[in-house]
Amino acid sequence: MTETERRTAKTGAANIARQRRFWNRRAASWDHGAWTNPGLVQVVDRVVAEAAPSPGAVAVDIGCGSGQLTLKLAPLVGSVTGVDVSSAMIELLADNARNAGATNVTGRAVPVEHLDLAPASIDLVVSNYVLHHLRDEDKAAVVAKAASWLRPGGRLVIGDMMFGRGSESRDREIIGSKVRLMLRRGPAGWWRIAKNASRYLLRFQERPVSMSAWVAMFRAAGLVEVEAIPVVNEAAVVRGTKPGSS
Ligand SMILES: C[S@@+](CC[C@H](N)C(=O)[O-])C[C@H]1O[C@@H](n2cnc3c(N)ncnc32)[C@H](O)[C@@H]1O
Repeated sequence: MTETERRTAKTGAANIARQRRFWNRRAASWDHGAWTNPGLVQVVDRVVAEAAPSPGAVAVDIGCGSGQLTLKLAPLVGSVTGVDVSSAMIELLADNARNAGATNVTGRAVPVEHLDLAPASIDLVVSNYVLHHLRDEDKAAVVAKAASWLRPGGRLVIGDMMFGRGSESRDREIIGSKVRLMLRRGPAGWWRIAKNASRYLLRFQERPVSMSAWVAMFRAAGLVEVEAIPVVNEAAVVRGTKPGSS
């Protein structure tokens, strides 16, 4: 292993550990608020619509949290595996699946960077509001792995905050509207601007990239019929299909 590879592996492991700590602490409050957050619900619904699920389909939800997307998909497919770095989230997923009477849901507490599935074994890989937490090289690696797991005709659908650091006009509109909103809140808002600037610009916790960057990753992974759809505020959905007939 070269020094660069060693350093890359170390920062990757550090990011996984940071996400695990952060989301184990926040699991209960996410579960409390996410189900009724109107923006989030809109994105989840759009991911499900773009996935075009069919009865009998085998689905995987990356970064499933406590089941916001997994449990919407469950009645529409044969089975769905929710994967999350946080074991607290996976425990909540199991509780929520039981309460919903969903018997085709399985949870796995594993970081997506370490997830290994058989090639051409999955019909749908979906994810919502997760991958902006990954380093850019890990985002591309996950898209490539997901493409390899898909059967011909299978779909990868990712919903997430999608904006870059200002090189595209959509980025500038999103950043501008966030700053204006926070400025209206007075000193508390100024504090949030400073906090978000460090989160987004220094890319510690949040590392969103633009819709066009996602489209490029999907195409580089060999997916076709790739489309990016803005949904609400900074949220968008990108969909692609594994070539070949199903
Ligand atoms: C903002 S929550 C979204 C949860 C859910 N998908 C939803 O739509 O409400 C982000 C989720 O991503 C998970 N996550 C973060 N990094 C991850 C990683 N490297 N591998 C798997 N899950 C990860 C977190 O534990 C958390 O549950």
